[in-house]
Formats: sequence, C-alpha cells, structure tokens
Amino acid sequence: PKQPILIQGPMPIEAEYFADLLKNVRIEHSGNFTFYIGTLNDYPIVVTKTSKGVENTAAATAIAIERYKPRAIINQGTSGGHDKSLNVGDIVLGKRSFNAGNFKTPVLSEGEGSNPMNWIPMDVMASEGSAGEGDGAVDAEKVRYYEANPELLASAHAVKETHKRGKVVEGTIGSANFWNNEIDRMNWLNKHFGSSVEEMETASAAMMAEAYGIPFLGIRILSNNLTNGGKYDPSTATDNQKFVKNVVLHYISTL
Ligand code: 5AD
Repeated sequence: PKQPILIQGPMPIEAEYFADLLKNVRIEHSGNFTFYIGTLNDYPIVVTKTSKGVENTAAATAIAIERYKPRAIINQGTSGGHDKSLNVGDIVLGKRSFNAGNFKTPVLSEGEGSNPMNWIPMDVMASEGSAGEGDGAVDAEKVRYYEANPELLASAHAVKETHKRGKVVEGTIGSANFWNNEIDRMNWLNKHFGSSVEEMETASAAMMAEAYGIPFLGIRILSNNLTNGGKYDPSTATDNQKFVKNVVLHYISTL
C-alpha cells in the first residue's frame, strides 16, 4: 500500500474543508486530534485537525507518524504578517520555520525589570546538556531553522498561479503559542530572525518531521497583518486549503 500524505490544520476552519475533499473517509480520534483517513484522486491522504498550538501539533504529528507512516507532511493554516509587503490573502511557503518562543534571558537582578528585546534565542536541540548553564550552554544561544523539503516546495511553486486571491512567496514562518499585537515586537522578530509571518504550529510539526526524517512543508496564508493594517479575515483559511489541494495533486503526479 502507498504511504499517505499528511495534511494538518489547527482549527475547524483550517482542516474541515480539506477533510471534505476526501473520498472513502474513516475518522479516528486521539486526545485533542481528529484524523480523517481517505483518498484524493485515489491517493491515500490523512487530514489532521490538530487543535491550536505547539504542544497539540507536535503530539498530533508524532502520533500520525507512528500510526499512518506518512511519506510527506504539510502543515497549513492562517497566520499574521511580520512583513509589510505581505497582504491578507497572500500565501507564504515556509522555506524555513523556527520556534519563535524559545529564548534565554540575560541575567538581571531583582528590580531590574524585563526587556524582551534583549532576549537571546535558545536551541533546545543544540546538545543533550543544559541549555541554560554549564559547558555547552553558549552553543544553545542560537535559533534553529527547519528547512522545507525541496520537492514539496517545487510542487507549491508549480501551482502558484492557481491562487488568485493574492501572491505566493517563499518566506520564514515563526511559531509559538503567542499572538503579538506589538508592532515593535513583530519588527524585532522580523529583523533578527527573518520572520515573514507568525502563527502557532508549523515549527513544532517541522521539528517532529525532521526527527523522524519525513519531508515537510509549511504553507501559511495571511489572515491578518497588523504591520500594514491588514484586517483579520477568516475566509482566508479556505483559500489556503484550496491552494494546498493543488500542491498535493501536483506532488502526487510526481511520485
Ligand atoms: N498570531 C498568532 N497566530 C495566528 N494565527 C493566525 N494569525 C495569527 C497571529 N497573528 C493562527 C495560529 C492559531 C490560530 C489562532 O490562528 O496558528 O492556530
């Protein structure tokens, strides 16, 4: 039997459109996750509604890998812009992603306050030792980027023209359990780590995909962009799934 392609979306509006495209669907539940197991053009697909956030997504990814042995994983959904040139409705292909919530703070005494602009990135996978103290802790003072799989990225580029609502560009996806409304914070993340958009899932799925050696791509549409006044529009979630469908159909045709 062919190995399925795993398509993940956090919220109902980010997963159920795709799940409805499948034929011969069987549904399985585990924890906060719903798995829709079916086919698209006779090719096996598993859609996961993961729920929001990095813990749910990492766990849903590991469980899906163990249960369904996917040959490729696409994590997709909405996001908020960090790049003023990106508008609501544009799609970012995650050439890379990173966990934008992994930081070590400088040492400050009681009464000296807290300044997030001075925080230092922290890579929890730099070593098996402490990321905070001792030998090797300095090695952990860097950001870890997860790279897109070239074949998945190529399929996304190949169908770019099918997305009419906005442009489709390569970029960097920053993930953490956060929703930033401070423009200076967004600009700081953009300047220091190159984030094009923020959301709450991609890097955690990418981390699991890398750990298990499975091709991965994050595809995120902007549903909002405070940096240029782009108002939140949840209808973008469906447009992203329509685009992802075309990416999957192209990818299948290359296998
Ligand atoms: N900041 C954080 N998460 C966002 N999402 C959409 N826009 C943003 C934003 N500006 C996504 C997250 C999460 C849900 C709230 O929508 O990935 O799943």
